[in-house]
Amino acid sequence: MRSSVQPLINEIRQQFLHDLEQVQTTLELEQLKVKFLGKKGSLQSLMKGLKDVEPDQRPLVGKFINELKEFMSNYCDELEHQLIAKEENAQLAHETIDVTLPGRQRFVGRKHPLTQAMDQIIHILSKMGFSVQYGPDIDTDYYNFEILNFPPEHPARDMQDTFYISPHVLLRTHTSNIQARAMELNRPPIRIIAPGKVYRNETITARSHVFFHQVEAVYIDQHVSFADLFATLDEFLKKLFKQTIETRYRPSYFPFVEPGLEVDISCLVCEGKGCQLCKHTGWVEVAGAGMIHPEVLKNGGIDPEHYSGFAWGMGLERLVMMLRGIQDIRLFTENDLRFLQQFTLL
Ligand code: PHE
Repeated sequence: MRSSVQPLINEIRQQFLHDLEQVQTTLELEQLKVKFLGKKGSLQSLMKGLKDVEPDQRPLVGKFINELKEFMSNYCDELEHQLIAKEENAQLAHETIDVTLPGRQRFVGRKHPLTQAMDQIIHILSKMGFSVQYGPDIDTDYYNFEILNFPPEHPARDMQDTFYISPHVLLRTHTSNIQARAMELNRPPIRIIAPGKVYRNETITARSHVFFHQVEAVYIDQHVSFADLFATLDEFLKKLFKQTIETRYRPSYFPFVEPGLEVDISCLVCEGKGCQLCKHTGWVEVAGAGMIHPEVLKNGGIDPEHYSGFAWGMGLERLVMMLRGIQDIRLFTENDLRFLQQFTLL
């Protein structure tokens, strides 16, 4: 029996060596392995033939078959190393890498300086007992003006150059559009802030833009007074700027407050010496404020005999310009990464 298997083994070996010479790629080598060493390959069929070999011959024949297997495996392994190296070299030769090119820059995302400041402002005022309420950017004349004591044709409407969408729908000119909603939704004591964008049809300059941000604060309770307004504003500014800030209150007119005032803070960019931001006055206007007009309380369903309240609307851009020493409001919306990348968290 030995004699009948031996020629077969030799034949397979010859065939293997012949096929091996033709192999050019790792893929072809895989196919060769399947043909000779695979589950249905030549070696396997030899193994199956073992059962027909005389029992006393089996160990020897088995040994020959194993030798053949090892012989083929060794050749395959060696050729595989050579082919992999050859294919890698070919790939490298065809991929030209210019090692002098600068590396690819990875940009680290960060919050816009206005968003950072708004987050900070919300954080400070939340700790002071205010909760956040949002209002719509596109609003009705009713909430933006009428309920705030601006009758139709009232000249004060001209103070705010409004973008109208239709005769009764507009882009809100201030976050005060939240005031009446706050009163409709809550009963005193009411302590809310309303952050958001506002829009005005103004000429774009270093100091003013067609859209900017405000934070409205509304506090309504029994016996709320001017002293509460001043104390809250001063405390808030101190926390935001991390130092005592010099404030100046000037009487002013807004139909929805009485009395009304404008709040200036001493310019931190030039430290009061005079610069472009403060129009060389040393002071920068940051908010309108006042005691909520009894008519507005009434419109909101609150009895002005029992309750009083203050409100302020603060411009975010001016505050951030001072916090960060920025001289031109247009930089905020130009999306220039060289500008935006300078701002780490406050
Ligand atoms: N809404 C006013 C403005 O945008 C500011 C303001 C708010 C004034 C609240 C008084 C009270 O000019």
